[in-house]
Amino acid sequence: MIHDRTRLRFAIPGKGRLREPSIELLRKAGFDFRAKDRNLYATCTNSDIVFIFVRADDIPVLVNAGVVDMGITGSDLVLERKSSLEEILPLGFGKCRLCVAVHESFTSDDLSPLAGKTIATSFPHITDSFFKSHGIDVKCVEMNGSVEIMVALGLADAIVDIVETGDSLRDNNLRILKDIGKYETMLVASKSISNDPRVKNIKRRMEGILVANRYSILEFNIREENLRDAEKIAPGYESPTISKLDQEGWLAVKVMVEKNKVVETMDRLESIGATAIIETEVRNCRL
Ligand code: PRP
Repeated sequence: MIHDRTRLRFAIPGKGRLREPSIELLRKAGFDFRAKDRNLYATCTNSDIVFIFVRADDIPVLVNAGVVDMGITGSDLVLERKSSLEEILPLGFGKCRLCVAVHESFTSDDLSPLAGKTIATSFPHITDSFFKSHGIDVKCVEMNGSVEIMVALGLADAIVDIVETGDSLRDNNLRILKDIGKYETMLVASKSISNDPRVKNIKRRMEGILVANRYSILEFNIREENLRDAEKIAPGYESPTISKLDQEGWLAVKVMVEKNKVVETMDRLESIGATAIIETEVRNCRL
């Protein structure tokens, strides 16, 4: 199966925090495959795709080399690997910041005291460009993990690393000195294949799931004269669906509302006289 080049090769992070959300998203998008812990690839049973499980930081390299057609990886890793690939769709998970961090006892809030110092990082290219853009020369030491301990060990004066919750920095008595950039997980594809209908189909399917994850449907009844106000409160993704009720002067409205605004929107609709307000989950959609 792995040699069958008629199948699209799709790389998924095989380990770490991107693995499970990536598999879940692909399954919800309708791709069936068995992802066993130790398997390095899995054949999709209902599409011409073979899924390859590799390290997230190797995915930009594999796509760039053209041996894998597309995949899921971090935009930080795409930048670090200087990959010339197409970033097709942000996937809304794995959001993180890349930061310069120093020991809590570092007295300055400026980068300049780091001139000539050693920075430990898994992102030497981004680090180098960042310090160069500030006119500061530093020495980068490339590490493959556990970067936060390198200051305490005495290898480095500062680190450049991913920060999500900040727990790893706190655990190691480090603090953020400067933000370098914000990144998130992306659907990526080789430039040579980004217009392929199969790639477009995967993107559309994923978009449907991502929108469904963000929105709920709210249904309610409202008097005709209050429709305008209701539309201001809940304008919908595009526009609400409105139908007449048997009861004279009343309308039934169906509208998409962002999940984190649903409860507040219900309160506001109720306050202008809406009745029978019901939230329904969206599992999938095409908009
Ligand atoms: C990343 C990163 C930091 C940590 C930050 O490591 O390298 O160590 O997460 O997250 P936090 O701010 O929530 O503590 P990851 O756990 O992905 O493993 P890695 O060391 O193998 O990169």
